[in-house]
Amino acid sequence: MKTAVVYYSMSGNCKFVAEQIAAVLQCDQIRVEPVKTYPDKGAKKFYWGGKSAIMGEKPELKPYEFNGDEYDCVIIGFPVWASNVTPPIRTFIAENDLSGKKIGAYACYMGGGGEKALEKLKKLLGKEQLDAQILLIDPLKNDSQEVRDRIREFCSKLEK
Ligand SMILES: Cc1cc2nc3c(=O)[nH]c(=O)nc-3n(C[C@H](O)[C@H](O)[C@H](O)COP(=O)(O)O)c2cc1C
Repeated sequence: MKTAVVYYSMSGNCKFVAEQIAAVLQCDQIRVEPVKTYPDKGAKKFYWGGKSAIMGEKPELKPYEFNGDEYDCVIIGFPVWASNVTPPIRTFIAENDLSGKKIGAYACYMGGGGEKALEKLKKLLGKEQLDAQILLIDPLKNDSQEVRDRIREFCSKLEK
């Protein structure tokens, strides 16, 4: 089974988790980035990203390499923005047909709105259930054996 982890990360948490997953599953990592980057400092960071997430925007992405036919399993990783899916991931889902694939998702957040964001992701994918899902509180800052064990357990659900 071939797996890809597709993620957006502004400040490194989702990148860190993608790397952990890739180490466990030996899978490809695809980082998506918008052409017009979001401000990543100060009040603007929360204002513009939050507004874009609430509006359900689908920003244009920089070119990325993802051939859906190659993968049986796709893991989507994103930071929760305003209790919602991060906009670049909305674009990725709109641009790619993921039906019929095993889907896992992880979301990094500060502790609020993660469940809501995962529900929204399911709607975007047109799925009632995901094959595995996990919420992680700023895992880069809170890295621990427990976090790594949870990521490993998440991966094991997708290996079968
Ligand atoms: C625009 C914006 C909105 C956010 N909204 C939320 C939120 O609703 N709930 C939450 O717990 N964290 C929120 N956060 C925090 C991030 O989800 C969290 O720090 C995450 O781990 C960042 O992942 P990254 O380092 O991969 O970008 C927000 C961050 C930004 C920049």
